[in-house]
Amino acid sequence: MSIKLPIYLDHAATTPCDPKVVESMMPYFTDMFGNTGSRNHSFGWDSEEAVSKAREQVASLIGADPKEIIFTSGSTESNNLAIKGAANMYAKNPAGSENRGHIISVIHEHKAVLDPCKRLEKEGFDVTLLEPGQDGLVTRKMIEDAIRDDTILVTVMWANNEIGTINEIPQIGELCHDKGIIFHTDATQWVGKMPTNVKKDNVDLLSLSAHKMYGPKGVGALYVRRRRPRVRLIALQEGGGQERGYRSGTLNVTGIVGLGKACEICAQTMDSERERLLKLRNKLESSLESRLDVVQVNGHREKRLAHATNISFGFVEGESLMMALKEIAMSSGSACTSASLEPSYVLKALGVGDDLAHSSLRITMGRWTTEEEVDYAIEKIVEAVNKLRELSPLFDMHNEGIDISKIEWAAH
Ligand SMILES: Cc1ncc(COP(=O)(O)O)c(C=O)c1O
Repeated sequence: MSIKLPIYLDHAATTPCDPKVVESMMPYFTDMFGNTGSRNHSFGWDSEEAVSKAREQVASLIGADPKEIIFTSGSTESNNLAIKGAANMYAKNPAGSENRGHIISVIHEHKAVLDPCKRLEKEGFDVTLLEPGQDGLVTRKMIEDAIRDDTILVTVMWANNEIGTINEIPQIGELCHDKGIIFHTDATQWVGKMPTNVKKDNVDLLSLSAHKMYGPKGVGALYVRRRRPRVRLIALQEGGGQERGYRSGTLNVTGIVGLGKACEICAQTMDSERERLLKLRNKLESSLESRLDVVQVNGHREKRLAHATNISFGFVEGESLMMALKEIAMSSGSACTSASLEPSYVLKALGVGDDLAHSSLRITMGRWTTEEEVDYAIEKIVEAVNKLRELSPLFDMHNEGIDISKIEWAAH
């Protein structure tokens, strides 16, 4: 069978829309275009009904009550609303004063969590950013050790977007409930792939995004717990008071319908999909590890999302590797900032050295990834790494048994 190039292996960045999702959205662009706020005619009622259905579909996927779902533009907004909204609501002291309360998060969170935390720090909150161990996991014990009398909010992602590691969310949630602390999780990479029950998993606030689970871009949701405890937030924006006043603005009905359908499909398919992708991921990793020397899988080996891997290749220059693999869409361990190529801060947080961080690939498979595509990727990666190593004098030295890390290079 011939392979269609380029191959897409970057599903943690975004996913294609499921055709069934697109189909469900189509009528809401044209015939059923009403504003849910139009309470006095059928166009408005139809849209309202569609949004209610989507609210149920989202709630059902995560074990919530539909009333607890707030539609947003995606996880960035959900995280901002959850973190700033809860911090300002439960602050110990009024705006403008010092010592407004303590917030706990982790240094390898997504920027959509870290930056709101930074903003709050400037506004009088004290933020502790924990450092995970080499395996990248965040445990209950780590949070327990960091909690203080003035801690008001803990925010820890469910699964990491670069290495796919899974944190101890139900245990951290239980701890937060015992201590009366609000608990938010950025579940962008988790929801739709793993079974979720916000009640049993002790989550108070949860962010999710449609485009990570075969839905459209620019739409997501925030789960806000209504009972035990009843969580309240200060809204980020004022206006028409939609979404219980938490998110003013005309609802993106088309996108919300797509999100709902995407959730429904994930609920039906996630178990079989996970099993299939785990086999492909294991094949990919074991093939690369058996055929190449100096290969390192980053993050905990077992406590990881099934479709994701992050692998570093020693003695390979990261950018050259990406150039050699242009026909396979993946993410590299280098983040392009305006002035420089920085190694990924997530990998650095695990203690991965700059060299290995630069030469890492994040490979994330999805609903339509085939075994042929994975086989093709294996061949191409092996070929590219071998070729680049042929040019590396350091790799020659490594092969001669010289420990590169012990060499004292002369400075001129
Ligand atoms: C863990 C995590 N949080 C938040 C986001 C941002 O989500 P969105 O694109 O829906 O704003 C992403 C997307 O890259 C993510 O992976």
